[in-house]
Amino acid sequence: MLTVLIASSKGGCGKSTLATGLAGYFALAGKRSVLIDCDPQGSSTSWASKRVDLATPVLAVDGTRKGWERRVPDDTQRLVIDTPAGSRARDLAPWLARADAVLVPVLPSVIDMEATLPFLTALAEAGAGRKNGPRVGLVGNRLKPWTQASQNAVAQVQTWPYPLAASLRDSQAYVLLAGLGRCLFDYHSQAIRAHQEDWSALFSWLRNVNRQRRRSG
Ligand SMILES: Nc1ncnc2c1ncn2[C@@H]1O[C@H](COP(=O)(O)OP(=O)(O)OP(=O)(O)O)[C@@H](O)[C@H]1O
Ligand SMILES: [Mg+2]
Repeated sequence: MLTVLIASSKGGCGKSTLATGLAGYFALAGKRSVLIDCDPQGSSTSWASKRVDLATPVLAVDGTRKGWERRVPDDTQRLVIDTPAGSRARDLAPWLARADAVLVPVLPSVIDMEATLPFLTALAEAGAGRKNGPRVGLVGNRLKPWTQASQNAVAQVQTWPYPLAASLRDSQAYVLLAGLGRCLFDYHSQAIRAHQEDWSALFSWLRNVNRQRRRSG
């Protein structure tokens, strides 16, 4: 089972968008996918509940409840964990211990980036990115590539000690689809396909993580 933890201390950076998008992608790819929602706000749970009647549902499990592990079917192939804003690396320790990869969404603003850096330092101190710890990938989110702010943000994030696994552009598609229990990968219009391509680098990064996991496991 590949386990992907989505986390940042920063609120509103796209954790649930990334978690639901990934879980939806995995389900559409035929993988038995479970979304663990550790956020009492329940955005991921609400997304999954709107998806129950589709051919590719995603099981949401409340990660704030004791015994959540018992609700995850044994044959699960992809576990995606959504976490709340304000999480500190030490709050995430039990999740980090089971994760193969940690994805940290980052918005292209100085305020967001400054707030993210101490979280990344704490992640490193908690063992993420080390030989036996989970891989860490950054995901630039809500980018407007034609703006100086986004260009500067990407240039700066590329100097950080973790790889930029993907750069997702700003699009109303994310806002609309989230409310419908859908993700980009449920649609095939030309406009949506252009945004799907933003995720390609992330999928290839995750495939690499999965290969390493299999080799060492
Ligand atoms: N790439 C994007 N383009 C446009 N809107 C986006 C994008 N990513 C996320 N959003 C929107 O930004 C808002 C915050 O995203 P999201 O809820 O995923 O963040 P979050 O980190 O989970 O927030 P919280 O910290 O409250 O849990 C939502 O309205 C979402 O639809
Ligand atoms: Mg959220």
